[in-house]
Amino acid sequence: MDQSRAPLYEAVVKYTEREMVPFHMPGHTCGKGAPLVFKDFFGKEFFKFDLTEVSGLDYLHYAHGVIREAEELAADLYKTRSTFFLVNGTTSGIHAMILSTLKKGEKIIIGRNSHRSVVGGIILSGAIPIFVQPAYNEDFGIITNITPLSLERAIKENPDTKAVLITTPNYYGLQGRIERMIELSHSHNLVVLVDEAHGAHFPFHPLFPKSAIEYGADAVVQSAHKTLPTLTQTSLLHIVSERLKRDKVEQILGVIETSSPSYIFMTIMDVMRREMALNGKELWNEAVEVASYAREEISKIPGFRVITEEIVNGNDINAFDPIKLTINVEELGYSGFEVEAYLNENNIEIELSDLRNVLLFVTIGIEKKDVDQLIAVLRDLQPREKKDKERIPSFPEAGIQVLSPSDAFNSDYEVIKLRESVGRVSWGFVSPYPPGIPVLVPGMEITEEEVHFIEVFEKRGAMVQGPIGKVDGIYVRVVKDM
Ligand SMILES: Cc1ncc(COP(=O)(O)O)c(C=O)c1O
Repeated sequence: MDQSRAPLYEAVVKYTEREMVPFHMPGHTCGKGAPLVFKDFFGKEFFKFDLTEVSGLDYLHYAHGVIREAEELAADLYKTRSTFFLVNGTTSGIHAMILSTLKKGEKIIIGRNSHRSVVGGIILSGAIPIFVQPAYNEDFGIITNITPLSLERAIKENPDTKAVLITTPNYYGLQGRIERMIELSHSHNLVVLVDEAHGAHFPFHPLFPKSAIEYGADAVVQSAHKTLPTLTQTSLLHIVSERLKRDKVEQILGVIETSSPSYIFMTIMDVMRREMALNGKELWNEAVEVASYAREEISKIPGFRVITEEIVNGNDINAFDPIKLTINVEELGYSGFEVEAYLNENNIEIELSDLRNVLLFVTIGIEKKDVDQLIAVLRDLQPREKKDKERIPSFPEAGIQVLSPSDAFNSDYEVIKLRESVGRVSWGFVSPYPPGIPVLVPGMEITEEEVHFIEVFEKRGAMVQGPIGKVDGIYVRVVKDM
């Protein structure tokens, strides 16, 4: 297909040139009625792109015109059967994959490292999750990926499983043995869904890991907005095999996504796709070089270590994404949370911190001078005595799934102290954020290990979503009378 075209973008530009009199939504009337501060900041042209489904601009949930053409170009570039533009993030794509594949009561194998949106999809569908514990990298203190061996065990123990949802790469850009896991799952006739939220850029540079699409997953969802030059909320849902029916997926997306999709979101996806097709490798070359420079220079500063491709081990880590910059800071006597706060004070914003590391994304637009600024700030950080020798717990294994997440969510809850919740059934989610991996999952029995893990994260200053902070401690929601 002609990847130099951007049919949706071209149609929107043509439409705006007609200067139609706008008796329609949105209520800013093509910018004429927009709040002045916003107009001053963005300029009035910006609002002209914020159209609704007006004549000739197609419908996202009944795409048969320019949106369909734009999606077909994306499918051609990513080599899929069908690609859907998503305007509600990867979360909506994960929900759609699960709802298209599973009915109430059917089993799905998922990693314990799944994002909360995976459990969200399971709640909506009424499916039953079978959790597989991912491997843990002691050296950096991070969970990596589920392994073919652990997946095989789960399949054998649950022969009635319908599907598997594999989350890889992880936030830190470490990809698991996806090819082997897909092969294994297909040999047991399971549908393979992949949460590749952190891999939308994979096809565009030879040094990036190969996408799960290439390895033959049945459906793959990617957060375009996480690593590609596009707007927050924009994601891509790829249907790769016949195991998922395009028509069904389209109907489900129409149910779970907004009926007023943003044309700014959809248009930028069209233009971004063109940009990646025409200039992707060149644009990524610079980011890859800058990231490699950053790794080299930061590892020379005493007290800092970085993840490099040496972490690849053929077991739980098959490939390393070079645009992810993970810096281990524990030798300096700080937690990652403290170093993040220090970087913030020095005008550097990062993607994520954990107990032992900070994680930075080096995407298109980051220049060597930005890295030099980061290096200067890191060099100024003085080592200090390690004040807390407490052992850092690894991510706790899943407790017993007493109720399906859906049944738990449909029960009443009561709020009790976290410390007193061991043995109770969680009603809600509790997740350090980012990365949004739930420690407490609806319907799961709460364990001592989980409570301890949350306490350590809270104590060390992590952002933990879900619990309720009160003056006398942390409280959580548990299923009432269970
Ligand atoms: C692995 C993973 N899956 C899914 C999501 C949800 O993506 P989105 O924010 O695009 O809805 C995230 C977000 O952080 C994620 O890290």
